[in-house]
Order: sequence, then structure tokens, then C-alpha cells
Amino acid sequence: MQDDSTIQQQVLYAREQNLDVREFRDVLIDSGLGRIRPVGDEARLRQLISGAGLIVTARLASRNRTLVGVARCVTDFSWCCYLSDLAVAKSAQGLGVGKGLLDEVRRQLGPQVSVTLVSVPDAIGFYQKVGMARLADAFSFMRAA
Ligand SMILES: CC(C)(COP(=O)(O)OP(=O)(O)OC[C@H]1O[C@@H](n2cnc3c(N)ncnc32)[C@H](O)[C@@H]1OP(=O)(O)O)[C@@H](O)C(=O)NCCC(=O)NCCS
Repeated sequence: MQDDSTIQQQVLYAREQNLDVREFRDVLIDSGLGRIRPVGDEARLRQLISGAGLIVTARLASRNRTLVGVARCVTDFSWCCYLSDLAVAKSAQGLGVGKGLLDEVRRQLGPQVSVTLVSVPDAIGFYQKVGMARLADAFSFMRAA
């Protein structure tokens, strides 16, 4: 049985702006996040990829570099970053990949850039666990569709 640190050593984190749209869709679906993302609209998924300033992936070093996680961010790389999608494949959840993706996002952005997101209810405990501050004064115009 491998422990979490062994699995972490087998995960490669990288910036991948040209992420394949089918891989992106599949990890969204596999993670569960696909329920609230436009996974049935490939053109829109392509825009999500092309318009993102920063996409960080987590891939297994073995097994043909299978995609096991993605963090998709909108950012200016200078002041702020909105983390729109964080998704880890079901089989890789709870092994440190989500935290690894956040660490790599922060490494790529540097300390001058804030990272903000809206959590689904089930992930609130995760964001608290990794040390993010919960905001009381955030506002939003919600999308219509
Ligand atoms: C939420 C998610 C991104 C977390 O990624 P993960 O790889 O499973 O989490 P990690 O293994 O990196 O967890 C880091 C720590 O947070 C804890 N944690 C993970 N998920 C948690 C949860 N839902 N609630 C409370 N704690 C959680 C882990 O136990 C771990 O704690 P430890 O450091 O004491 O061992 C992932 O489970 C996921 O993709 N979920 C489905 C999609 C989703 O909800 N995305 C977020 C949208 S806002």
C-alpha cells in the first residue's frame, strides 16, 4: 500500500495552457464538478481554456501521464487571481493533489497575487484546511446561464 507522500512523488504539476478540451471535460465530470460546469458545450469549454490566464494540471508520472487534476484560473499575474475550477479525479481525491494544485498555482503567481474563489458547499472544509481565509464581504453578479 502506498502512502500519500509516495503518491505525491508520482504526480507532476505543470502549467498547461493548451490543455486538451476532452481531457478537461473528463476530469470535470470524473471529479463531480461537471455537474455545475458546461461539460455538454464543447465550444464554451474551449473558451474556458483559451481565456484562462493560468491552467495548472496534475498528471501521473506513470500510466501515460493520466490527467488527475486541474486548476483553471483567470489572472493578471500581478494583483489578483480568480480560481474558477479546481477538480481532482475521484480516484485521486484525498491524496494531496488538490493542495498540490493550489501550491503550484501560488508558486506560479508569486506572493503579490491574491487568490479568490467561490467554494461549493462540500469543499468548504478543504479550503479551510489548506489555510484560505473565508471572506464575509465578497459580492457577485451571478451568471444567467
Ligand atoms: C475539493 C477537492 C478539489 C480537494 O482536492 P483533494 O485532492 O481531494 O484534497 P487534498 O487531498 O489535497 O486535501 C488536502 C487536505 O484537505 C482535506 N480535505 C480534502 N477534501 C476535503 C473536504 N471536502 N472537506 C474537508 N477537508 C477536506 C484532506 O483531508 C487533507 O487534509 P490533511 O492535510 O490533514 O490530510 C477535490 O476533492 C475535488 O475535486 N472535489 C470535487 C470537485 C470540487 O468540489 N471542486 C471544488 C470546487 S469549489
